[in-house]
Amino acid sequence: MRILVTGGAGFIGSNLVDLLLAEGHEVRIIDDFSTGRRANVAHLAGRVELVEGSILDADLMTDVVGGTDLVFHLAAAVGVRNIIEQPLRSIHTNVQGTENVITACLASDARVVLASTSEVYGKSPKLPMNEDDDRVTGPTHVARWSYSTAKALDEHLAFAYAAERGLRMSIVRYFNTYGPRLHENGYGSVVASMVGQALIGAPITVHGDGSQTRCFGYVADTARGTMLSGMLDGALDEAINLGNPVEITIGELAERIRVLCDSDSDIVYRSYDEVYGKGFEDTKRRVPDVSKAERVLGWAPLVALDDGLARTIEWWRANNL
Ligand SMILES: NC(=O)c1ccc[n+]([C@@H]2O[C@H](COP(=O)([O-])OP(=O)(O)OC[C@H]3O[C@@H](n4cnc5c(N)ncnc54)[C@H](O)[C@@H]3O)[C@@H](O)[C@H]2O)c1
Repeated sequence: MRILVTGGAGFIGSNLVDLLLAEGHEVRIIDDFSTGRRANVAHLAGRVELVEGSILDADLMTDVVGGTDLVFHLAAAVGVRNIIEQPLRSIHTNVQGTENVITACLASDARVVLASTSEVYGKSPKLPMNEDDDRVTGPTHVARWSYSTAKALDEHLAFAYAAERGLRMSIVRYFNTYGPRLHENGYGSVVASMVGQALIGAPITVHGDGSQTRCFGYVADTARGTMLSGMLDGALDEAINLGNPVEITIGELAERIRVLCDSDSDIVYRSYDEVYGKGFEDTKRRVPDVSKAERVLGWAPLVALDDGLARTIEWWRANNL
């Protein structure tokens, strides 16, 4: 198949591109390198078509989507810190950019997979989080919730374009993903910052009291689920969680990373106010229900946390030190 990956120079996007190439597909990437990295795609020179540009450029998107059969739309303004510091840019990228991708797909009759997020569930207390659950978010003056709302609006757009204009689409909702090419800058990924700190012997920072839990999905699992969502007819018109339901507290994660890095770093706790300023709201627990992914895609996460962390640490040592 001829496939476009938006955000293909990013963390998940570049891992997805590697998988698609390994499966024999022809791949084109569009990325503006705002958070993506040239190093993520350096090994792809001559094997993919790389377009440097923005999904906010509607004419460019029409050109770039042209001639493709399938589009994986991963380009987005991401990361809690980016969203809080540049809420306007994030909203524009994540709403207008996505609508540009969708309309270009309609014009070219390409199928599209939208990368959404567990953030759409907001602070819903219901666990595990199921695709049919209600969204529970905070007030609109808290910038953090704009990411959740923008991604939810993307999902509404996709469903509306499917119902009214015949768009062939699927939505994948990623829960926290980690693995090689994970980055920290302006992003706020907890695994990246902890591994980076542990490997240089700096204090490992835990935000809050460390009792909040998260579930971490390894990027190869995420990429495989994403690819399947674009290829199987059963995934059309569906939103599907992709994550690993095994839960760990952030305090425990810090300890696990310290041991796996063979580090003697201290573990220090910093309040959310100190890190993000007053008014930051975090979710205490976030666990995916992945039964729909199993049912629709025949997908289940295969890589356990210790194994995935070890592979991430190995990559980090080779590339970031
Ligand atoms: N990493 C996670 O845990 C996670 C969790 C939930 C959802 N997601 C979603 O997965 C997708 C990929 O995220 P990631 O973690 O790989 O982050 P990333 O920052 O590595 O990837 C995003 C990519 O999009 C590119 N981009 C941003 N704005 C663009 C624009 N206007 N035009 C073209 N390219 C642009 C960036 O340069 C980057 O390469 C995003 O849609 C994100 O919302 C990620």
